[in-house]
Amino acid sequence: MCSRGPRRLVQCPSSRLSQAVFSRESDDTMAEGTDTRTQGGSPGPGASKEPAAGRIFSGMQPSGEAHLGNYLGALRQWVRLQDEHECFFCIVDQHALTGDFHPETLPTRVFDLAVSFLAVGLDPERSTIFVQSDVPEHTELTWLFNAVTPVGDLERMTQYKDKSARLESIPAGLLNYPILQSADILLYRAELVPVGEDQVQHLELAREVARRWNHRFGEVFPEPRPILSTAGRILGLDGGAKMSKSMDNTVRILAEPEEIWERVRTAVTDPQRVRRNDPGRPEVCNVFTLHGHLTDPVLLPDIEDQCRAGTRGCVDCKRILADSIGEHFLEVRERAAELKANPQRVREILEAGAVRARKEAERTMTQVRERMGLTWRSGVHAG
Ligand code: TYM
Repeated sequence: MCSRGPRRLVQCPSSRLSQAVFSRESDDTMAEGTDTRTQGGSPGPGASKEPAAGRIFSGMQPSGEAHLGNYLGALRQWVRLQDEHECFFCIVDQHALTGDFHPETLPTRVFDLAVSFLAVGLDPERSTIFVQSDVPEHTELTWLFNAVTPVGDLERMTQYKDKSARLESIPAGLLNYPILQSADILLYRAELVPVGEDQVQHLELAREVARRWNHRFGEVFPEPRPILSTAGRILGLDGGAKMSKSMDNTVRILAEPEEIWERVRTAVTDPQRVRRNDPGRPEVCNVFTLHGHLTDPVLLPDIEDQCRAGTRGCVDCKRILADSIGEHFLEVRERAAELKANPQRVREILEAGAVRARKEAERTMTQVRERMGLTWRSGVHAG
């Protein structure tokens, strides 16, 4: 297990994750953390205060409002990282095209995710928050990276193997998906990428793409490293699969208390607890894991003890969890309601983010096009 020292980022020595750094969990509730971090006084991206070394990029697919997996695995640490780094946070709508998407609902999903971003505390004054398709350089760089990426590397990606195995006809975009992800990151010459564990292999590919491209055309791109949340992989309410919208095993972070309870009451607990007073095993119960992330730490010993002793039934235990989730996101829901009532404000934030992102993207692409010889005018000699 990686040691977790007092610093925010901790190097992990394990082999597969040797390039990763871990972000320390904060005991703050989101509402407290968000309040202090989003209030005035902090310089915007254009202001003179230099952020800490290590530019950050991360992205999320617009599958609508964020769920607990997105929040605990990614968003919570994105909010914290804004304090010390220059950050780019992107809604990756072009990645969504490689999955099951509907043109009619995609725009709303982008908007809903933007609301979730802002409501949890991503701060447009400090971070660049934007939509991928607003910056055409993402797809341009993807094409250029096609030139240095072996198909074999793409075919080895676990997510590609899992997803393509379920399809009769595999869209080329599914294979090339990690190249677009590499382009997202490298376009901004980001050095650190906060993600959940499921994205580590894609990050390894991005490092490889950077290395190959630099080797052939000269040093332009840093090799980006993942920052992993110590929350690890958040399981869904079924207690078996990763929490994800496509598995319908999620709890939306913006759900109202009644909906939270409707969802949480279906959560799978320790299968050995058949009767109410059977002794339970918190270590195998996903409800207990979620308590660990979202319930007041003061209550945890009692929850654990009563589970082991069989003195509190699973339904009551889930009720406490539902209440914790409701409370944890109370202020986030309030901010989301304000934003939904003012869609123009959300639009302006995304427009401004796109302007800043395009500026940075253009800076990288000028160098890249030049190094790759996409400068035909320089070959036209006068006379
Ligand atoms: P996506 O949209 O599936 O998820 C966004 C982020 O949330 C994390 N996450 C989880 N973490 C723990 N447990 C879960 N159940 C869970 N569900 C989601 C993911 O690890 C991720 O960090 N390919 C990426 C999007 C992407 C991207 C990028 C990420 C596109 N370009 C560039 C980083 C950098 C994806 O599909 O994430």
